[in-house]
Amino acid sequence: MQTHWWRDAAIYQIYVRSFADSNGDGEGDLNGIRENLPALAELGVDAIWLTPFYVSPLADGGYDVADYRDVDPRFGTLEDFDALLASAHELGLRVIIDVVPNHSSSAHEWFREAVAAEPGSPARARYIFRDGKGPDGQEPPNNWQSIFGGPAWTRLKRPDGTPEQWYLHLFDSEQPDFDWTNPEVHEEFDGVLRFWLDRGVDGFRIDVAHGMVKEQSLPDIVEGTEAGMLDGSNVLPYFDQDGVHEIYRRWRSLADSYDGDRALVAEAWVEDSSRIARYLRPDELHQAFNFEYLTAPWEAGRLREVIDSSLAANGAVGATTTWVLSNHDVTRHVTRFGGGEQGLRRAHAATLLMLALPGSVYLYQGEELGLPEVVDLPEDALQDPTWLRSGGTDRGRDGCRVPLPWKRDGASFGFCPENARPWLPVPESWGELSREAQRGTEGSTLELYTRALRLRRELDALGDGSMTWLSAPTGVLFFEREPGIGCAVNLTGETVELPASGEVLISSGPVTADGKNLSLPSDTAVWLRA
Ligand code: GLC
Repeated sequence: MQTHWWRDAAIYQIYVRSFADSNGDGEGDLNGIRENLPALAELGVDAIWLTPFYVSPLADGGYDVADYRDVDPRFGTLEDFDALLASAHELGLRVIIDVVPNHSSSAHEWFREAVAAEPGSPARARYIFRDGKGPDGQEPPNNWQSIFGGPAWTRLKRPDGTPEQWYLHLFDSEQPDFDWTNPEVHEEFDGVLRFWLDRGVDGFRIDVAHGMVKEQSLPDIVEGTEAGMLDGSNVLPYFDQDGVHEIYRRWRSLADSYDGDRALVAEAWVEDSSRIARYLRPDELHQAFNFEYLTAPWEAGRLREVIDSSLAANGAVGATTTWVLSNHDVTRHVTRFGGGEQGLRRAHAATLLMLALPGSVYLYQGEELGLPEVVDLPEDALQDPTWLRSGGTDRGRDGCRVPLPWKRDGASFGFCPENARPWLPVPESWGELSREAQRGTEGSTLELYTRALRLRRELDALGDGSMTWLSAPTGVLFFEREPGIGCAVNLTGETVELPASGEVLISSGPVTADGKNLSLPSDTAVWLRA
């Protein structure tokens, strides 16, 4: 049966700035990606997702877009983009790109116009400008806090220094929020989507998909309930409002009007899987990142609970479930799982678990190399706005954005041409983690990913479909995808014996099996075929 490509795809996230630098300016670029596409095809992924490469001052790594229809010169040109897309398609790789609709950069033409215009003017109505409260409007219009720290409002000054209105920015002050009650904003984004769909992209990852619509009266929030970056656990007047769903219905019909099989995926940090499923109703988006899964601890009970609730909630609206362990906003999972040898062992097991689950998976560049979080970047190298906005108390997300090591040797381990300096320093120990060092090396993380992705493609049982839990001791996850194809993961802390007949297809560490019983060490996963 012909199925939608995204329902079981392995999608590899490329953080463009840190993937591969072809021109020696220290930052990754589109040509660097194109040159290395064969490595991704060899890894065995089905698609790539590119983080923003649009014209941007990079106040938030490109999530502050100044021109949605052009490539930042640091990353290349539109021609480079077209060439990358064509090469990816030739290799059978789909390409999805980021769209950032909650806010623009303050360098966007619209925002410049708004600043120059009068309060109450049409130019201001594209963003959320309000008068301040208190004497002379000195206080912000409400008590909302920026997700990066500090107030979510910044006050404008006239050229002569007289203060005037405030504007809302849920993120950095260089990221003013659009006003999605304004039809012009809808039309503008229809145009942006069309621009890239016409060029041939296979879909979009929608940034802050739960944030575009604010409760109309902009009410104060209860002190202490403000959302952190990853915190969807509160019902807030600026997240997960019903109005966002109208936007997605419109976007879905726009995407459906194109040929091919274009996918829309939501980045929505909302309360739980039932709220997420509302974005995935048949006339809305196709997929959403499963952040409940990403944030689950390495604990069998909780993982099983999230797996069950995700599959049930998504299944109820006919959507596929996605699985993800890392991205450019969170601490890399090797480190989250304890770091060092234990963290890596768990990461390997977690990968086999994730790749055996029904649905599709999102992989973040570098996880196939087992990269840990870089926790000791020098303070003067930090660029995440969180660092400054938190007054130097939160180091932010740069530690998961360190450039990739490609070669065993060289100053940046092959990320940049020799003599160029990467935008963030690459740890000296990363030569051993480089693709060159791991490729073809038995027991390496890269080999595990390559073999597992190949098997996942070959075995019809994996990818889209259903699963059945099998009986197993507490602390062990054991399930079948179809009779005879199973996966077991041991999170007990001790070796367990399982009555499991059949052949070991792949394991994340050494196991002993005699065809009837399986001896599975702690923090190890295995795929079996009866
Ligand atoms: C999303 C992005 C994050 C960015 C934020 C603001 O959460 O993943 O990197 O900082 O949106 O655009």
